[in-house]
Amino acid sequence: MQLIDGNFISQQIKEELTAAVAERGNKGLKIPHLAAVLVGENGASLTYVNSKVKTCEQVGFRSTLVQLPVEVTQEELINQIRGLNQDADIDGYIIQLPLPAHIDEKAVLMQVDPNKDVDGFHPECIGKMALGMDTFLPATPAGIIELIKRYNIETSGKKCVVIGRSHIVGMPMGLLMQRNDYPGNATVTTLHSKSTQIKEVCQDADILIVALGKPGFVTGDMVKEGAVVIDVGITRVADESKKSGFRIAGDVDFASVSPKCSWITPVPGGVGPMTIASLLMNTMKSAQRKDTVS
Ligand SMILES: NC(=O)c1ccc[n+]([C@@H]2O[C@H](COP(=O)([O-])OP(=O)(O)OC[C@H]3O[C@@H](n4cnc5c(N)ncnc54)[C@H](OP(=O)(O)O)[C@@H]3O)[C@@H](O)[C@H]2O)c1
Repeated sequence: MQLIDGNFISQQIKEELTAAVAERGNKGLKIPHLAAVLVGENGASLTYVNSKVKTCEQVGFRSTLVQLPVEVTQEELINQIRGLNQDADIDGYIIQLPLPAHIDEKAVLMQVDPNKDVDGFHPECIGKMALGMDTFLPATPAGIIELIKRYNIETSGKKCVVIGRSHIVGMPMGLLMQRNDYPGNATVTTLHSKSTQIKEVCQDADILIVALGKPGFVTGDMVKEGAVVIDVGITRVADESKKSGFRIAGDVDFASVSPKCSWITPVPGGVGPMTIASLLMNTMKSAQRKDTVS
């Protein structure tokens, strides 16, 4: 069994981006600028946003945090988004989800300029991805693709099973693994909450990508000898032995699954750190697009 080390790869990407930003500075090209919109003071969201902003600073990007009170109206939020769309200095921005219940998340995300949608959630980005056109890929699936690529894991002709069909992870992951490219060219099966014979389908997978948010769901008896297992799950589980009172658990039971795998991502330290790395790569891509326009 070999570990797919997301901490190591994301650090490598950050170093590459730091060098690329410095080179852009030397050439007088625009320094990438990422903005993050945070509504309310949800603890987990604040942690995620702060870590995104901090990572931007580490690689030399400019960053802006737009913090709005929890009682902001949908109209006010959309006005802020229109401002970001019009601000020529902003290359990309994210809206930290979830939004408060009184705001229609879909209506808000539809207002994001697809050319600045570095989260890759806009229907135009998803549509272009499905058609194999150049676009921003959703950050978490893009991070998984980058891990597969950097570890030279073979995907062509492999049976790939994706558990989960969410719009941000499972669905785009399935599309990417079946596209005519590397990584891709896999025969993909998607499983969801209405699927039957989940164990048997998983047992046949050469590559198993697990994104359902149920800690320890995939156990050793569900995995084929030599399979590649990618664990996307991140769930806080109460743990009194930790100072924080919780630990982060993946969707895969690492103890029983890892001995059977050729490759496996740990949690934490696997897919998690790649999401921010992808966001930064998408922001750099957006800044680079302007080089050719100007
Ligand atoms: N590493 C990262 O950076 C990152 C990023 C995003 C998410 N995550 C984590 O990844 C996990 C999934 O996130 P998500 O946003 O995709 O979750 P989600 O929107 O809740 O989607 C979960 C998916 O799993 C399916 N599912 C639920 N129970 C199932 C079962 N018993 N058997 C088979 N399928 C089942 C659901 O099926 P239905 O469609 O039928 O409901 C749904 O498609 C979470 O732990 C999340 O925290 C991590």
